Amino acid sequence: MLTAALGNDGVQPVGAALEAIASRRSIRAFRPDPVPRATIEQLLTLAGMAPSGSNIQPWNVHVVQGTKRRELSRVLLEAHDGGAEARPEYHYYPKVWRAPFLERRRKTGWLLYESLGIARGDREAAHAYRGTNYNFFGAPLGLIVTMGRDMEHGSWIDIGAFVQTLMIAARAFGLHTCAQAAFSNYGNLVRRTLGLDDNELVVCGVSIGHADLDHPANLARTPRAEIGCFTTFHWDEE
Ligand SMILES: Cc1cc2nc3c(=O)[nH]c(=O)nc-3n(C[C@H](O)[C@H](O)[C@H](O)COP(=O)(O)O)c2cc1C
Repeated sequence: MLTAALGNDGVQPVGAALEAIASRRSIRAFRPDPVPRATIEQLLTLAGMAPSGSNIQPWNVHVVQGTKRRELSRVLLEAHDGGAEARPEYHYYPKVWRAPFLERRRKTGWLLYESLGIARGDREAAHAYRGTNYNFFGAPLGLIVTMGRDMEHGSWIDIGAFVQTLMIAARAFGLHTCAQAAFSNYGNLVRRTLGLDDNELVVCGVSIGHADLDHPANLARTPRAEIGCFTTFHWDEE
């Protein structure tokens, strides 16, 4: 049986992999407890084992902690609260929403806002909550994942594999994560604050830390479609 808690000791490797996959979920409130740099280095080494087309490994990572993390959060929160126009680095979502994606998206938002006690239509509260993205949800550190602007669609797949590998590996250290496309809303500010080249496209952030499991933001669980909704078997019956 899968349990949410994963330790390093006494767990069979295959079982541990399943535990790590099943216990990953987006955490949106962290405790401030520090995470050692050596752990982050191990996580990045593991994430770097992700596959990529022709092994080109197109990911770049900026680890932001301490002073730089605080500065980045301040700059982005000022922009968010000051009503600065968000200019996403890329289109994450379809330009025209359709079933079943629109329903799933709405449901996910409502689940989260319900657990936070944010009423439907309370735009002010929703705006304030979205701002917590830029504080890495209270995590002591985060990653900014970038790639060259000249890269093509294949590299987006590779970076997805990298980020997922990192988030799964984090579970083995008792850590939780949240991938955050929100950081791509203000790519220019991220680049300016971290001193990045114009060619570096901000793909997403990733908060990393110890979950505050009692916080309402972490109470909601996202459902999943049954495999029959997305799978067609072209399969010989025996
Ligand atoms: C690339 C990527 C970007 C995401 N960006 C955000 C974000 O900006 N803010 C946020 O709160 N959640 C973000 N999420 C988390 C998703 O909302 C979450 O993965 C989804 O609702 C499924 O829930 P789960 O991760 O708990 O299984 C992102 C997830 C991915 C994979």
